[in-house]
Amino acid sequence: MNILIMGPAGAGKGTMSKEISSKYNVPHISTGDMFRENVKNNTPLGLKAKEYMEAGLLVPDSLVNDMVEDRLQREDCANGYLLDGFPRSLGQATDLTKMTSKISRPVDVALVLNVELSVLEERITGRRICKNCGAIFHTKNHPSSVEGVCDVCGGELMQRKDDTLEQLKVRMDEYTNQTEPVIHYYEEQGIANFVDAGQPADKVFADIQVILDTLKKGK
Ligand code: AP5
Repeated sequence: MNILIMGPAGAGKGTMSKEISSKYNVPHISTGDMFRENVKNNTPLGLKAKEYMEAGLLVPDSLVNDMVEDRLQREDCANGYLLDGFPRSLGQATDLTKMTSKISRPVDVALVLNVELSVLEERITGRRICKNCGAIFHTKNHPSSVEGVCDVCGGELMQRKDDTLEQLKVRMDEYTNQTEPVIHYYEEQGIANFVDAGQPADKVFADIQVILDTLKKGK
């Protein structure tokens, strides 16, 4: 299956992607994680992306699209993919249509996670991620067993620099102005599916499974 997962900052894209990737056996491709890895390693791409990310702004399409095109050509995408956080602008969406047609893997479904702003604020400020393996926790909703220590690998937990209420406002403006038109793009193609992601994580994943299982049966 060729899946996109969309939604505002803190909607649960990363959390759901881990579940989807494992159950449906598709590689999880997160442009946010790819950029963070580049920033951590001080690559030329990371140095360019860093200032945008720390300001909560979208990284320019020219830096994102080639990175995704390269990634989609890897062998593990031969049976499908799960794109998390891409596309986020109409330019990215139209480029993705071209890229996926080149590899004969057009997008099957765009999962759109909807959550109220007050819930997003609570999720963003309470999120902690593992410096080492990227596992996602939350101080209240999904705490690690030992405070500050990752349950998966024992690594140190940290707060992302862009996880502040101030940056969330900028990220939400970017979402409204640049990403909502992308949702309409997929609605017009009849492949946008909306999910109430304000529910507990197990319920959100149950709703996603209904959508994906129906899609799988129809293929
Ligand atoms: P990115 O890393 O993609 O950030 P984002 O879209 O802002 O999304 P988040 O990672 O903040 O949230 P999420 O939806 O994954 O939520 P999570 O599952 O962690 O991008 C970062 C930056 O990179 C961008 O701002 C931009 O600069 C750049 N970038 C990336 N892609 C780009 C692109 N295509 N074009 C241009 N620039 C790009 O969950 C959040 C918290 O809530 C966690 O603590 C979790 O435990 C908790 N939680 C999750 N689900 C639930 C639930 N159902 N109930 C209770 N708690 C929950």
